[in-house]
Amino acid sequence: MKKTFLTQPYLLSLHPDTEMNILWIQSEPFLGVVEYGNSPFPGQTITAKCHALTGMRAPASADGYSDIPEDNPPITLWQCIATLTGLTPGEHIYYRCLANGESTPVYDFHTAPAAGEPYRFAQISDLQGLLPCEETVYQIGRKHPDFILFSGDAAYVSWRMDHWFDLDEPWQSKESARRAFFPCMQQENGARLMQYAPTFLCPGNHDMNDWRVDLDRELCVQDEIWNWSIYMQLFSPLYPDPDSSITGKRWYSANYSDMHIVSLSIQRCAMWSPYVKPGWRLVDSIAPDSPQIAWLTQDLAANTARYTWVIQHWHLLNKGSDVQPNLCDPVIAEDGTISYPHDGCAFLMDLFEKGHVNAVSYGHSHVYERYFAKGTHYIEAAYLSCCYREQNAPFHPGGFVPVIEDNSRQSFLIAERNEQGLFGTGYYSDAEPIVFDKYQLADQNGKSVAP
Ligand SMILES: [Fe+2]
Repeated sequence: MKKTFLTQPYLLSLHPDTEMNILWIQSEPFLGVVEYGNSPFPGQTITAKCHALTGMRAPASADGYSDIPEDNPPITLWQCIATLTGLTPGEHIYYRCLANGESTPVYDFHTAPAAGEPYRFAQISDLQGLLPCEETVYQIGRKHPDFILFSGDAAYVSWRMDHWFDLDEPWQSKESARRAFFPCMQQENGARLMQYAPTFLCPGNHDMNDWRVDLDRELCVQDEIWNWSIYMQLFSPLYPDPDSSITGKRWYSANYSDMHIVSLSIQRCAMWSPYVKPGWRLVDSIAPDSPQIAWLTQDLAANTARYTWVIQHWHLLNKGSDVQPNLCDPVIAEDGTISYPHDGCAFLMDLFEKGHVNAVSYGHSHVYERYFAKGTHYIEAAYLSCCYREQNAPFHPGGFVPVIEDNSRQSFLIAERNEQGLFGTGYYSDAEPIVFDKYQLADQNGKSVAP
């Protein structure tokens, strides 16, 4: 590979008020250094730690990738991480990264402000290199979010390098290079995205190493095929426990100013009827006695932040035929009648109500749809590229009806905390974005506001 920097730097932190990880991916293990300070330089320098990034594959031939993963040789890339510590809330930091005699441009970011100060954030998900995701993400970047919530499905096929990076290789088209995850999420020309705004992600079904688990009923029931090592390495500061197998922990929380952000791992895509076994499976489990739910119950009980926002990939409240069965445990009687002895939707919604969660945002169906139930806003603002909504999709089997659904064209969500409370704004992602949905999520005391 010709390039030293396969990405521009990106920001991740579980303590965004006092600590920031600056990461980038390199083709070789060059020594990486970050220069930073409260004004453009000279500033301080810090040496980045360099880790091998494994699990991706190089193309099988000069023509590009084979669809069979094993035909494409494994490749090791290199991830640099520089951790800035001892920062103060609201601090303005300029930085650039240097390696192999090259330098990135100078970027800047603010640490999370003190509680009570305003901030703005974007909800993104489901890029997957789909047309025209980069245009919508560019418009989001032009709104200058202070941080980004990313509700899963970053790359389409996680082991393919070209789904993450612009490799500047003849076999990668310019169009697909623009829509790869990092080029899309690091656009410039007035946009401020992952170089400037810490991003909080959760895994979607495309973020597993081997997406065939979604396609094959026999593979799906084998524990060993479930692995998220590529995703978890790329975003490792969010996942301090490196176990990427099915027994690992892929959920976390972090406070950004006076907002508690909870990231859950709930994803499933099945290319067959959800009532057919083997192959019906929800990962990671949300059963009441599962590790994720035990952690979530404790996390919400200990939470004292004014606002709480949950991200997950699975569309908990949504129109569409694939919603309820995958979050419950369907039992089919001999006469074909389906019952739900464990209603995972209701169970999670009760937990969110008890934990005073203001909003849950998710993706997967690529729609714009918003609900309010049991004191919580349920939002899918995921029509960034292409829409998966079926015509005349049925309402949720629980009887929930959306406050608004609008899939007339690509759109995005910007949320804002100001002195009156927490607000959401839906924009059509036209060349000059148009507001089509504006609402209050919560008041200045943190209480959710009903539509
Ligand atoms: Fe998905």
